[in-house]
Amino acid sequence: MNELKGKIGFGTAPLGNMFRDIPEEEAISTVETAWNNGIRYFDTAPFYGAGLAELRLGEVLAKHNRDEYVLSSKVGRIILDAKENPSDRELGEKGGLFEHGRDNKVINDYSADATLRSIEDSLKRLKTDRLDMVFVHDIAQDFYGDEWLAKFESARTGAFRVLSQLRDEGVIKSWGLGVNRAEPIEMALELEENKPDVSLLAGQYTLLDHERSLQRLMPAAAEQGVKIIAGGPYSSGVLVGGSHYEYQEASSEIIEKVQKMKDIAQRHGISIKAAALQFILANPAIGAVIPGASRPERIAEDQAALKEVIPASFWQEMLEQKLIAENAPLPIDGHV
Ligand SMILES: NC(=O)c1ccc[n+]([C@@H]2O[C@H](COP(=O)([O-])OP(=O)(O)OC[C@H]3O[C@@H](n4cnc5c(N)ncnc54)[C@H](OP(=O)(O)O)[C@@H]3O)[C@@H](O)[C@H]2O)c1
Repeated sequence: MNELKGKIGFGTAPLGNMFRDIPEEEAISTVETAWNNGIRYFDTAPFYGAGLAELRLGEVLAKHNRDEYVLSSKVGRIILDAKENPSDRELGEKGGLFEHGRDNKVINDYSADATLRSIEDSLKRLKTDRLDMVFVHDIAQDFYGDEWLAKFESARTGAFRVLSQLRDEGVIKSWGLGVNRAEPIEMALELEENKPDVSLLAGQYTLLDHERSLQRLMPAAAEQGVKIIAGGPYSSGVLVGGSHYEYQEASSEIIEKVQKMKDIAQRHGISIKAAALQFILANPAIGAVIPGASRPERIAEDQAALKEVIPASFWQEMLEQKLIAENAPLPIDGHV
């Protein structure tokens, strides 16, 4: 997908004060560092800190020529001027997320009108005149429990239609789903009309979790030429030194599994971050990987990880210890 301008992008969820109150200067400097290191694809969403991540990203991107970068944001949540307590938001399994973000009221709405309004609001916060890709945000079980199918249906008759129209008119280049679960993307790929041509899957095609996506989603996406953008490549941090897994404190079971992977990486003289990024990019259905960060120093670390040479023996041992799926494409010459 050439509009992605390089295989690695930058995910701005942390910049919405996802886990901590990030000083403005640090947030801005993180985006500037990404730009100065050649990153030209940025993903954001109104939901990230109730507009905060878009505002921060927009401040940096406004200094650059719009044709030089690719931008994606999301629809499905409208940010109002009215206020609420961020900790009181109903977020299913993701309770407490963005409690350090802005306290504007967030309304879930996947209708056609809300989709258009959401895009207009994003453009203002991002100080730009267009989005390249738009993702319908979080119509999945982790946020809506058993209600998720009803949300999907509301998006199918609302957001999906209007986004297909905008794509046909050339207002946006592509649209898809932006979710933490594979099922909604699988369902969207089976639709007869108003279908996505790209999607963002977070945390479900990673070194830690990929079995489920390998069964149906990745082959179906590859067959239809729908690129998958891999969000949450570090499983929200735990894989590379953070404490979160799927946006909550990681369990001892997950920490143990990560430790096994880290021990193998150490024995083979590589960083676990290199394995995390290169594993994802080895799958031919992947369009880009978008690690998130809230500190400037992460950017150089990510770039170095992409360049590391990983010996085949590392992957061999990961397979032997059943830490990765047998049918996963691997970044080994002649294997991918
Ligand atoms: N539904 C959706 O559409 C959806 C869902 C999830 C994600 N996404 C997209 O995918 C992007 C990436 O996901 P993500 O940001 O949630 O998670 P991620 O990329 O898996 O992990 C990012 C976290 O890893 C931490 N990290 C990186 N290197 C580290 C190190 N050396 N030591 C300790 N911690 C380290 C970062 O910490 P610092 O903050 O300290 O730098 C950051 O908090 C998002 O920003 C968003 O754009 C989309």
